[in-house]
Amino acid sequence: MHPIRRRGWEISGERLTPEPVVLGRRALVGAMAAVVATPSPSAAFGRDPIAWWDAQVTANPARDLYAAPRSPAYPLDRPLTEARYAIAYNNFYEFGAQKDIWRAAQRLETTPWSLTIDGLVPTPRTVDVDALIRRFPLEERTYRLRCVEGWAMAVPWVGFPLAALIRWIEPLGSARYVVFESFHNPRIAPGFRQAWYPWPYLEGFTMAEAMNELSLLVVGIYGRPLPPQMGAPLRVITPWKYGFKQPKSVVRISFTDRRPVGFWERLQPNEYGFWANVNPAVPHPRWSQATERMLGTDERRPTLIWNGYGEWVAGLYEGLRHERLFA
Ligand code: MTE
Repeated sequence: MHPIRRRGWEISGERLTPEPVVLGRRALVGAMAAVVATPSPSAAFGRDPIAWWDAQVTANPARDLYAAPRSPAYPLDRPLTEARYAIAYNNFYEFGAQKDIWRAAQRLETTPWSLTIDGLVPTPRTVDVDALIRRFPLEERTYRLRCVEGWAMAVPWVGFPLAALIRWIEPLGSARYVVFESFHNPRIAPGFRQAWYPWPYLEGFTMAEAMNELSLLVVGIYGRPLPPQMGAPLRVITPWKYGFKQPKSVVRISFTDRRPVGFWERLQPNEYGFWANVNPAVPHPRWSQATERMLGTDERRPTLIWNGYGEWVAGLYEGLRHERLFA
């Protein structure tokens, strides 16, 4: 077992500093840090993630692709989280264990980006993500995201159904799981030097979960390309599961007949499991999951079973009650 070092997202929402306070303090820290920050974003944008993102998007010739039509099928029960909170409060351990990794993550070069699809498939292939984005019609979906730590957000993702990619690939009948692997480049991301983490970041799902209509391959947010800190150019979103099941900056999708062991499950299996479905009644071993704090507010809301997506997914788990479905 690895030595247990405290990870940011292990601190429950109750114990986190309220977001407005964090952002206020961060402006000050950011001003100081701009001097020693990674080469980009430049000092001009060092304190303002929105200004930096604006500049990136304006320079992107394919930006219009991401203004996709919103699907009416997934209405929210709460206001959308403001972009300035969602893009500046992130978990991306490759770039550090704090929430303000957005500056460091700008070192991720997302074009060109190769995605390998292999394992139990008729033809393994490597595809360019720009081409992939043009292959499948993009749509916008407003989903809640619930981090296991106790914070949550409601955001408009842009992407295409994972099921569409799977239908295109036609995996072999023996495939029972699909596994997503994140990028692994120690030259640009300091987290990889922390050898106690089982890099690369990896997560997987049963084929039934992956084929569920909610499972989304995400390439954008708020009508724009994803910013690097949110997992550009391609990440997975399965909104009924805790956020750690939703890997960012994916470079490989593999089909397999063996249940994969995810990044956090490998590190701490007594706390993080394969299924990780949201449930207010099943506490984390070290904190309650009964409520959640919406990013950018001090508001706490009751956590919803399956994060509110039971009508789509509860049926997937009938007959699996002997499994640790909620951790
Ligand atoms: N993917 C990678 N590659 N590395 C990570 O550290 N963190 C996970 C998930 N995907 C993580 C990751 C966790 S714990 C959460 S809560 C969500 O990303 C956070 O997504 P966000 O930062 O876009 O809100």
